[in-house]
Amino acid sequence: MQFIPFNRPFFGGKELDYIKRAIDNMHISGDGSFTKKCHALLEQSLGVPRVLLTTSCTHALEMAALLLDVQPGDEVIVPAFTFVSTVNAFILRGARPVFIDVRPDTLNMDESVLERLITPRTKAIVLVHYAGVGCEMDAITDIAERHRISVIEDNAHGLFGKYKGKYLGTFGRLATLSFHETKNFTCGEGGALLINDADCIERAEIIREKGTNRSRFFRGEIDKYTWVDIGSSYLPTDILAAFLYAQLEDRERIQSMRRRVYEYYEEHLRNWGKNHNVRLPFVPPHCEQPYHMFYIILPTPQRRQALIAHLKGRGMLSVFHYLPLHLSEMGRRFGGREGDCPVTEDVSDRLLRLPFYNELSEPDQGRIVDAILQFDDV
Ligand SMILES: Cc1ncc(COP(=O)(O)O)c(C=O)c1O
Repeated sequence: MQFIPFNRPFFGGKELDYIKRAIDNMHISGDGSFTKKCHALLEQSLGVPRVLLTTSCTHALEMAALLLDVQPGDEVIVPAFTFVSTVNAFILRGARPVFIDVRPDTLNMDESVLERLITPRTKAIVLVHYAGVGCEMDAITDIAERHRISVIEDNAHGLFGKYKGKYLGTFGRLATLSFHETKNFTCGEGGALLINDADCIERAEIIREKGTNRSRFFRGEIDKYTWVDIGSSYLPTDILAAFLYAQLEDRERIQSMRRRVYEYYEEHLRNWGKNHNVRLPFVPPHCEQPYHMFYIILPTPQRRQALIAHLKGRGMLSVFHYLPLHLSEMGRRFGGREGDCPVTEDVSDRLLRLPFYNELSEPDQGRIVDAILQFDDV
């Protein structure tokens, strides 16, 4: 019987054709015609003033930290339940992380404890829309505005997700996207910075182009370019942009394939979950999710480990997600202790992500569901 992986990259069909076109254009470095097409598509479909493709979401977050001028001694509030890049980008600039716990329902930043963590040193609130389900943006935006603190949305999971009818990634001063192989739309490794604050646009272009004003030069606005600020090389080759554009063009088909996978799990596991004290994902009625992942939360860590082994024995790979950042080796160096973020600590031990990819066939998904339903007997 064939092995069912956790993730499988998807090729819509036009990727190679577009890569060939990028090569035929004789422009394979950054900011060629396919990069511009990706920028325009994302700007128009999301309604964001400026989008810049980057080499990863990690790098887009690093750009955000540079744009905010994060300095040693600044504090950045980040969820304890996230990927390392959400916090690392700011630590690189010398910031101190202040870990915030997550809500037990959506696993997003718990906005009810946010205000308590703000100090005069707080430079940014960096949030993650876990699984592409929106954080409580009304409350978070209100707190951030009252304290004049920038909000950065790490929207690695949530492209085309919405909160109260508005796209995720359009609330914060800056937001980031990931096009890593595991995401809904991919070019292998890639990301984007979404710039909602028009005042950040020019400097973002400079930081992305090694601290030079080369972007203005290429637009014909100046007759030579030079070193004007700090920066690095954050722009991807146009070959990757060509691959990505093929996927973004195909977004409706991709999202409907993923929706089918999500709904199949939900429909077939709902009753089993109720009867076995296993929680399925929660999407508040005011959020529209982009079907990035399907997770379940088992009643105990032992049951979670047993289910991973049970599925593995039947040739299918399920995986856990984030280990609490405040309890990691690095997190402890910043003073993280057991009990600081109890929901994160509890959920992280019990959460399991099921195989999820665009072309996961119904028979294969049926095998996964059957294996889970048989888990009672072991
Ligand atoms: C919430 C979050 N932020 C950032 C990243 C990093 O993305 P990338 O691999 O594009 O750098 C990930 C990776 O999965 C993630 O889950």
